[in-house]
Amino acid sequence: MAKTLQNLSSTYTILITISFFFLSTLVASETHRFSRPLSSSKHGLKKEKLSHLHFYFHDIVSGRTPTAVKVAEAPITNTSMTGFGTVVMMDDPLTIGPESNSKLVGKAQGIYAVASQSEVGFLMALNFVFVEGKYNGSTLSVLGRNAVLSAVREMPIVGGSGLFRFARGYAHASTHQFDIKTGDAVVEYNVYVFHY
Ligand SMILES: *[C@@H]1O[C@H](CO)[C@@H](O)[C@H](O)[C@H]1NC(C)=O
Ligand SMILES: *[C@@H]1O[C@H](CO)[C@@H](O)[C@H](O)[C@H]1NC(C)=O
Repeated sequence: MAKTLQNLSSTYTILITISFFFLSTLVASETHRFSRPLSSSKHGLKKEKLSHLHFYFHDIVSGRTPTAVKVAEAPITNTSMTGFGTVVMMDDPLTIGPESNSKLVGKAQGIYAVASQSEVGFLMALNFVFVEGKYNGSTLSVLGRNAVLSAVREMPIVGGSGLFRFARGYAHASTHQFDIKTGDAVVEYNVYVFHY
């Protein structure tokens, strides 16, 4: 009896070994690869460039066609000195000059949220979506802090797409015009970005 069991188990061991062998040859014969080294010139990346972009950002919160709308707040937002907890979704026009009818070069699409309880400090998480010339369809992604009462605010450019693949850099924002009655603002942006 014990002998039979032993024989059986060794037969199983052989069978399992054989099936593992076949399985692993099957898997090895497929050529799925998770990663590989790549030459940057062969990937079309020649020389890294530095570009400066200059435009005006129009944040319109008033009137019948606002470009920025409050989407959330906390129960304590109304009693907070800074409006802590307010979350605003924007699709703000970016123009070449400060006037609202100036040529459109893109949109700022994303979220700003009041993230500070001691001063007016926004968390900015947005994409600049360009429509101008060769930049049409390319984007830059911003993730940063915006203390809107400071003269110049610096925010990191954390990436991009299209012409701005592999982008990194920073944006300087300064308020050009703020209407205290309506809350509408025009902000000047200087963006410095490395890309290929
Ligand atoms: C905060 O105040 C506004 C305006 O008075 C009101 O519409 C809103 O419901 C209030 N929000 C909360 C969470 O109390
Ligand atoms: C940008 O690209 C879109 C989609 O390809 C096109 O419809 C639009 O006319 C282009 N805009 C400009 C300003 O070139």
